Amino acid sequence: MSIREKILALKHKRNAVILAHNYQIPEVQDIADYVGDSLGLSIRAAGTDADVIVFCGVHFMAETAKILSPRKMVLLPDRAAGCPMADMISADQLRTLKSENPGAGVLCYVNTTAEIKAECDLCCTSANAVRMVQEGLKDARDIIFVPDRHLADYVSAQTGRSFIVWPGYCPTHAMILPEHVRHQKALYPGAAVIAHPECTSAVRGLADRIASTEGMCRYVKESGVREFIVATERGIIHRLQKENPGMTFHPVSAHAVCPNMKLTSLEKILWALEDMQHEIIVPEEVRQRAYASIRRMLDLSE
Ligand code: 13P
Ligand code: SF4
Repeated sequence: MSIREKILALKHKRNAVILAHNYQIPEVQDIADYVGDSLGLSIRAAGTDADVIVFCGVHFMAETAKILSPRKMVLLPDRAAGCPMADMISADQLRTLKSENPGAGVLCYVNTTAEIKAECDLCCTSANAVRMVQEGLKDARDIIFVPDRHLADYVSAQTGRSFIVWPGYCPTHAMILPEHVRHQKALYPGAAVIAHPECTSAVRGLADRIASTEGMCRYVKESGVREFIVATERGIIHRLQKENPGMTFHPVSAHAVCPNMKLTSLEKILWALEDMQHEIIVPEEVRQRAYASIRRMLDLSE
């Protein structure tokens, strides 16, 4: 039996579902039941009737699945798969920020720990952040937005609201430079530039479209353009190419790689299902408070 066949047999035996983020390696995307962005993955995690969720992504994503589905066993195939941006703010630091800004609405990016989500009024992903500000926090006089300062800057430009921000960022997206975009545009003048809102404003300013990873997949199909420069983690190109065989996709830079997203492999998925490891645990008191901010986001996203 191949590793793939062993995974499929065990998945059936355990009544498990495999969820994968768009940045996962090709073999992992190809074995997953669902591949998507943070919002799509949250919706799937909330709706599945499987007993076990094998989460091929990073820790905060698996934790979000556990918060939404506490009775299911959520497994992260590599326990070291974290998100440096999520670790850039601690619950104590957020509590201090809140005490310095009493009465402010608190919005957190989904790329945060459960403890941070437990301190917030509302959660958002890159796909719905603008809507969360416009609808979910429309009555808030001040808004604290943590931890991604680039996403906050993008949403501020879209909504005309200014935020109390935290200086967090995604190292993978921050490494993408405007020079990389210009270099690729010179090589491929007919290509449209798609960029993630975690990119800097200098990079976003050169983009034809700014979107979450799922938004990029949609835009590529609808735009009428057939060649793209992709300013996000390059793992998404596997899915873009698979869904659009006649089109051409150029990574903005060879360095646009999130090392954490690359830790999951077929072997680790197999071991996860064999040994039921590594189980995500969220203390119930934290989970309930974090659930409220995610539930509100999902209700507003419908
Ligand atoms: P989305 O897939 O939600 O756009 O998020 C990108 C990301 O950086 C996830 O860690
Ligand atoms: Fe975190 Fe950036 Fe990696 Fe996403 S791409 S998991 S935000 S480090």
